[in-house]
Amino acid sequence: MTTTAVTHIASLVTNDPSLGNGTPLGLIQDGAVVIEGDRIVWTGESSKAPDTDNVLDAAGRAVIPGFVDSHSHLVFAGDRTEEFNARMSGQPYRAGGIRTTVAATRAATDEELSANVARYLAEALRQGTTTFETKSGYGLTVEDEARALRIAGRHTDEVTYLGAHIVSPDYADDPAGYVDLVTGPMLEACAPHARWIDVFCEQGAFDGDQARAILTAGRAKGLHPRIHANQLSYGPGVQLAVELDAASADHCTHLTDADVDALGQGSTVATLLPGAEFSTRATWPDARRLLDAGATVALSTDCNPGSSFTSSMPFCVALAVRDMGMTPDEAIWSATAGGAAALRRTDIGRITPGARADLVLLDAPSHVHLAYRPGVPLVSAVWRSGERVV
Ligand code: NIG
Ligand code: FE
Repeated sequence: MTTTAVTHIASLVTNDPSLGNGTPLGLIQDGAVVIEGDRIVWTGESSKAPDTDNVLDAAGRAVIPGFVDSHSHLVFAGDRTEEFNARMSGQPYRAGGIRTTVAATRAATDEELSANVARYLAEALRQGTTTFETKSGYGLTVEDEARALRIAGRHTDEVTYLGAHIVSPDYADDPAGYVDLVTGPMLEACAPHARWIDVFCEQGAFDGDQARAILTAGRAKGLHPRIHANQLSYGPGVQLAVELDAASADHCTHLTDADVDALGQGSTVATLLPGAEFSTRATWPDARRLLDAGATVALSTDCNPGSSFTSSMPFCVALAVRDMGMTPDEAIWSATAGGAAALRRTDIGRITPGARADLVLLDAPSHVHLAYRPGVPLVSAVWRSGERVV
């Protein structure tokens, strides 16, 4: 098999603390990486790199693992420009806006929906995202949810069933009936097409008891839980996530001390989605508080047409550093290794032998520039599974 080395990397983020400078990022100065097939087979100092068939000289630039975007909602049609405009004129964000996207998504063909996913994925890839999770949640009928998952599965293995996004407008007068649908026939139709089950646990969506019933039913069908928790208000979502050993509690914007302690002690990752707070002009989640309590923190885009219409992980990194109390090192770790932890994956989010060869070459001497130079397109090359894709 052909081997390729990327050499003279000014600053190489490996996310292996046993390498390089011994911090969680495992930074190697003047590093090199060797790729064979879809895997990384060697990581170390450039001067010690083995001979390979091909060599790419990074010439003083930085390399980081491909971003792992562990939370997005890409199977949708239409957009919500008017709602965004209204918000920027002072209106609050309301979960009810989801209904607008549900109507547009139901009306779209499979081809339109798949083309949309491909378009946002291409956008994300150009910005260094090599793994992404995506959800259903804009269908809210048995057929429309199952179709969203089938379409998502054409583009990624990390597919999440979110029939419990909001109570379907068809069940406006019978929320209990909708929970029965989500945990019954809809789950039956959706489980074969998903790895994860998610619920939006929030006032105006699903309460703690409903969320528990939904996640437990999903688990019985072999799906692993994750949860939209504590986004718009304080609530039971985070505690429920930890209780059920969910892979991730996402948003975590309104947390009590008990919520922070639970995340600090449990194995549930706290996934922060700064694009949502940015685009809804909401209070920032306090990453510092979570990190200081010992929680594992991931950063993701939450890309969706309502609360966070960005596919850019570099943008989220910059926001997390500027407004959420993270250092640049912490934000880069959370956007790569943190995302991998939120998906319970060990083969991605790090540049070490055996990992999938997902690398991003930056037009910058260090990863810190992703926060230091916000909005600048610094991604100059991307490899996914060993293949140069940008
Ligand atoms: O994660 N909070 C629930 N779901 C999305 C928003 C969906 C929408 O507004 O269309 C979120 O922010
Ligand atoms: Fe979301």
